Amino acid sequence: MSNTPDVVRTVKELRGITAEWRRDGEASALIPTMGALHEGHLSLIDLAHEHADRSVVSIFVNPKQFSPAEDLATYPRDEEGDLEKLYERDADLVYIPDGPEMYPPDFSTSIGVEGMSQSLCGASRPHFFGGVATVVAKLLIQAQCDYAVFGEKDYQQLLVVRRMARDLNIPTEILGAPTVREDDGLAMSSRNQYLSRQDREMAPHLYAVLENVAESIRAGVAVGKALHEGVQVLAQAGFDVDYLELRDGRTLEPIDALTESSGRIFAGAYLGKTRLIDNIAV
Ligand code: PAF
Repeated sequence: MSNTPDVVRTVKELRGITAEWRRDGEASALIPTMGALHEGHLSLIDLAHEHADRSVVSIFVNPKQFSPAEDLATYPRDEEGDLEKLYERDADLVYIPDGPEMYPPDFSTSIGVEGMSQSLCGASRPHFFGGVATVVAKLLIQAQCDYAVFGEKDYQQLLVVRRMARDLNIPTEILGAPTVREDDGLAMSSRNQYLSRQDREMAPHLYAVLENVAESIRAGVAVGKALHEGVQVLAQAGFDVDYLELRDGRTLEPIDALTESSGRIFAGAYLGKTRLIDNIAV
């Protein structure tokens, strides 16, 4: 391997380095990932460096956020490629714990964020946000950074993590970073590589429909009608739509009119076996 950033694999090593940064008066930011890094992840490092002197990227494919029927075994993994990208993007440190380092055999704790974990993605993936909240709480406590950065593409995840950190008094500020898109509008995701060529051509319709629905709502079309039409367009394009909803972007409460400036449209849909999610502010 040519050039790689510093890598640690244990909590002890990680804490040693972040504590040293703190002693030196340097602020640090954690970027939690499951690897298979793309430009969306790398943009989180850029945002981290706008707030902090030092960045640490974690790579851990978290089994607790996959159901037995999901793609844990086949989830894309490319440690060597990831390390090269992180070196090029000036990540200061990479934390790659193995399974037992994160979850010792007698691990018995789980964290659940009631309410906002149950709707949208949580309705069809009931295991998901508990698994995310548990691993992210651990990562925040392990790294003890000043900031942690999450992409707005997973907006519900961002809100769940923010609520969890607040509720548990974890003193890490949670930052959200704008979604990074391919030239045709498709939100970048590690799972995009599962798409067949034909599905990859259809995939940008998801973002296009979000844009169209937002425009209709802004133009005064009734929210229910605009969403219904959006679902129909997606179904015609071959999507199996899980949800297309207008929600309050701060609380995730359902809203049926644009009374406030915080309305956000959320979509989750399958193309073949690949689940795509996206969201935009209205
Ligand atoms: O968004 C992800 O990649 C994961 O859900 C996260 C935040 C790294 C937790 O495993």
